[in-house]
Amino acid sequence: NIGFFNGEFIDINKAVIPIDERGHQFGDGVYEVVKTYHSVPLLLDEHLERFEKSATAIHIRLPYKKAELKSIIVEGIERAGLENAEVYFQVTRGIAPRNHLFPDVPPSFTLTVKPARKIAERNYESGVQTIIVEDDRWAKCHIKSLNLLPNILAKQNAVNSGNFEAIYEKDGFIAEGTSSNVFVVKNAVLYTTPLTSNILPGITREAILQIAKEEGIESKEERFTKDFLMNADEAFISSTSVEVLPIRTVDGQIIGSGNPGEMTKKLHQLFKGLC
Ligand code: PDD
Repeated sequence: NIGFFNGEFIDINKAVIPIDERGHQFGDGVYEVVKTYHSVPLLLDEHLERFEKSATAIHIRLPYKKAELKSIIVEGIERAGLENAEVYFQVTRGIAPRNHLFPDVPPSFTLTVKPARKIAERNYESGVQTIIVEDDRWAKCHIKSLNLLPNILAKQNAVNSGNFEAIYEKDGFIAEGTSSNVFVVKNAVLYTTPLTSNILPGITREAILQIAKEEGIESKEERFTKDFLMNADEAFISSTSVEVLPIRTVDGQIIGSGNPGEMTKKLHQLFKGLC
């Protein structure tokens, strides 16, 4: 397990984050999660681009250029010596005595490289159970903010009631999961929520849409309701962590045949081809 904090590689277990670190006190920062396959970070350029956008959106200037970030990440992966790693990195507004106003200090950049969390195979074989919850997050969900309290509470609530993921409904339409995007297949057409400030522009989501295009699968970035999701032929969630994960139930109701759909399986297979 490798860590990097403010300019040097460190042992995660020995790292000490200063009390006045603003990520720690305010959640004043943004982050990314990237996975490696055969030690290669998947879609790294896309993740770095989103990282920069998130940082800019909260007025943090990244302390490294894209090429420097890349070399830190690649070195971290090498040092960790892992084939399948989860690379986490964040930037915060820095270390300064607690005060809501922006301090005049350099931002902090932190990175960890750990073994990728394994999703049990049975989740892919049977699909996962999900619940719909009201979206109680802030208005800028396109920013990958460190502030994940609503997401944590909703996910824990879902898991406590025997589900895998909670899916947010906002103003009568499906937004996204607490840490995933949502797709529906209906009459051979692939649907996913359009990009607005209501959802995170998922890197996996984008890759799936690209794959669909290449495969001649019709796709629509259109809002859809819980009812539409419930009556789908197939549904799945996507993220860096789960890739393409079939949904078996929504609020206890079986989706489609109850088994992972053909299009879902095909898209997952093709996505794995990128890895
Ligand atoms: N979560 N929506 C939300 C709210 C997310 O937190 C995530 C990712 C996604 C999917 O994005 P991507 O395909 O780029 O991973 C959608 C990461 C994995 C996490 O917080 O662990």
